[in-house]
This record gives sequence, C-alpha cells and structure tokens, in this order.
Amino acid sequence: MLSPRLKALAQQVPAGAKLADIGTDHGLVPVYLAKNRTVTKVIATDISEGSLQKARELINEENLNDIIETRLGSGLKVIKPGEVDTIIIAGMGGVLISEILDDSRDVLKSASKLILQPMNAPQLLRRWLVEQGFTIYNELLVRDGKHLYEIIVAKEGIQEVKDDIQYEIGFKLMQNKDPLFEDFISTKISKAEAIIRQLQRQDTERARERMKQLTQKLKKYKEAYKCFVQLKD
Ligand SMILES: C[S@@+](CC[C@H](N)C(=O)[O-])C[C@H]1O[C@@H](n2cnc3c(N)ncnc32)[C@H](O)[C@@H]1O
Repeated sequence: MLSPRLKALAQQVPAGAKLADIGTDHGLVPVYLAKNRTVTKVIATDISEGSLQKARELINEENLNDIIETRLGSGLKVIKPGEVDTIIIAGMGGVLISEILDDSRDVLKSASKLILQPMNAPQLLRRWLVEQGFTIYNELLVRDGKHLYEIIVAKEGIQEVKDDIQYEIGFKLMQNKDPLFEDFISTKISKAEAIIRQLQRQDTERARERMKQLTQKLKKYKEAYKCFVQLKD
C-alpha cells in the first residue's frame, strides 16, 4: 500500500509513460506503477547503493525486472537524453531538486512532465522553474500524517507571474480549488503571525526589516485566503 503522498505522485504519471524516478529509495512508486498502470518503462535511480538495493529486492520480489531498470548515480546524470518523457523527483529539498534539473538540461528536453515534490523551499524550486523556462501547469496538496505536501507539475514553457507571492502559494492550487488550500494558507498565516510576534520583541534594524517584509507577505496570504473562500463558494 502506497502512502497518500506517493500515491498522489504515482497518479500524476500518464499511462504509457517512460518514467525516471530519481531518488527512488525503496522503489515503491515504480513498483506500484508497473503493477497497476501501463507505464512502458521505468528507470529507478538512487545515489545510495543501500537504497537501490532495497528497490532491487522489491522489484525482484514482484517480478518486474522487465519493466523497471535500476541505476546507481546522482540525479539525472544516469539518464540519457531522450530515454524518458516523465520524471519524478520527490522527497528531497527544493534546492537539491533544482540543482538536479539544472545539471542535466539535455535530459529535460525530452521530458514533457516533471513531477516534483520538494520537502522544503518549494518557493525556490518554483522560482527556479519559472526563471529557467518552465511552466507550472498543475499543482496539488496532499495530506500525509501531519504533513501537507506540495506537488508541482511542470514542463518547458512560459509561466506568467503576476506577483512574487505566487512562488509561495503556488500558481495552480487556488485555481484548482484544491481542497487543502484553506488549511495550507491558514498555516502560512499562523506561522507568519507567530514570527511577527517574536520579531516585535527584538529591537534591531534587521528585525524591523524582516518584520516589514513579513507583514507585506501576511497581507497577501490573507488576500489569497479571502479570494479562495469567495472562489469556492
Ligand atoms: C527521503 S528519500 C525519498 C524517496 C522517495 N523519492 C520518496 O519520495 O519517498 C530521498 C532519496 O533520494 C536519494 N538521493 C539524494 N540525493 C540524490 C541525488 N542527487 N540523486 C539521486 N538520488 C538522491 C537518497 O539516497 C534517498 O533514497
């Protein structure tokens, strides 16, 4: 059984895809897709021999060696240009994901779908994508345990950015009326308010500057919240 986060990632993979799952760890997503869906081929990679060994064992157990190939190495370096059309990079930091993408631009040319799930700094990953000529054409939120995860789906293209706050709140979550958007934005509001309260107690120029930036952000979060409530009603 896949966790809700991994299942949501798997559901983004189109039928017939030639997929690379970068940093596969146990190989759960490739195995699920090969068993349940019509993926043509999966290359499951990891930088860690230990992780890849776990994936190999599962693939052997499930008799899926004809569909899933494992490769040891960093990022997309182990994928040849043109080999895959869909790429999952999940469960890593947003900056590491953007570095992996940046290091292998030749492989990205044939990839019509990048399914990315940063564990942190999603705003930096969104900014990297947009500035490097990718469009974020779908986004979703997944609750798994006490965490709310952001899944970003991108392809080559131009992304219109109306306001920098979109790097924080996403480009599609509100538009998609994501059922978890209200929770997502409420959490951002509470966190920003808590930090502002702390900053109010500090009498430094740096704290005042940070507070000014955060107050502006908070205003935009609240606008987004209001807008979303109107949109969904
Ligand atoms: C937290 S696990 C995430 C596993 C799975 N993708 C998921 O979302 O549950 C991160 C995995 O990425 C692998 N990893 C970290 N850096 C990597 C890199 N540069 N290239 C490939 N794999 C990497 C780690 O060895 C580990 O197995």
